[in-house]
Amino acid sequence: MTSPTPVDDLVTVRDWLRYAVSRFNEAALVYGHGTDTALDEAAFIILATLHLDIDDVDPWLDARLTSAERRAVFHAIDQRVVTRKPASYITGVAYIAGNKFHVDERVIVPRSFIGELLTRDEQILTAAEPWRIHRILDLCTGSGCLAILAALTFPNATVDAADLSADALEVAKINVADYGLEDRIRLVKSDLFKSLEGERYDIIICNPPYVTSDAVAAFPPEYRAEPQLAHLGGDDGLDLIRRVLKDARGHLAPGGNLIVEVGQANEALDAEFPDLPFLWLDTEGSEGEVFALPVTGLPKQKGR
Ligand SMILES: C[S@@+](CC[C@H](N)C(=O)[O-])C[C@H]1O[C@@H](n2cnc3c(N)ncnc32)[C@H](O)[C@@H]1O
Repeated sequence: MTSPTPVDDLVTVRDWLRYAVSRFNEAALVYGHGTDTALDEAAFIILATLHLDIDDVDPWLDARLTSAERRAVFHAIDQRVVTRKPASYITGVAYIAGNKFHVDERVIVPRSFIGELLTRDEQILTAAEPWRIHRILDLCTGSGCLAILAALTFPNATVDAADLSADALEVAKINVADYGLEDRIRLVKSDLFKSLEGERYDIIICNPPYVTSDAVAAFPPEYRAEPQLAHLGGDDGLDLIRRVLKDARGHLAPGGNLIVEVGQANEALDAEFPDLPFLWLDTEGSEGEVFALPVTGLPKQKGR
């Protein structure tokens, strides 16, 4: 006789939530891909597996699961512990401010603070009214999440979404199609601005790789599961940010703005570029990890 498994024993969402938290604590998982605690991670993985809104587990706590649902939830929880992959790679979905995106291991799990700025505070991203914004570049687009949020926030804009990774652009293509935005978002394979010669934008948003080589080498399995290209910013993490700062002015229209997420690099950037008028922005989950710079504050390129 085989011994009972959790699938036989656990009945309600509350049972499964408790079980998941115990498994996650026992395994000392690492979070940071949209959740910060074992409880939030457990709620996310259970709700996403059950195709329920991930914002609130409370209405379902006493709901009983079918046996097929119990098997699916057990499998998802077990995979999270055994593989140590981020929950979004197991469920295939990630959310920014309630907006759902397809993700898989070809792209980093979306969690940029620029997503919150785009959905909450679009006016901080531009001196102009949103309807006056006609051209946007999302540099380092990954899953296309920020390009899509930008297209939703600025209804008159077309968006170029650029990435060096062909894999990432394949995932972005799925998301752009899911949102029905194929006519407004153009996917471009480009090493930063290289394939965008002559293009100018009202807003450039960019969440580049900005993790130092040492930090990448010390990543826990959850972060190692993501494409290294999405994280690696060189010895001090600033390699790509320096390149963006050097070239952005030549790609901004008059009155345009550059918005870049940089992690904990604000002091280093203020020190290295004392003449640049960085405006450091806060979000619910971050302090000064995103800067805004007007075109007039950016370094002039030679010969332009
Ligand atoms: C931190 S991820 C951001 C992805 C997405 N914007 C988001 O917020 O979830 C950085 C992205 O930059 C891309 N990337 C790395 N080096 C690049 C380069 N030289 N030019 C363009 N994209 C690059 C990676 O493939 C990755 O998708």
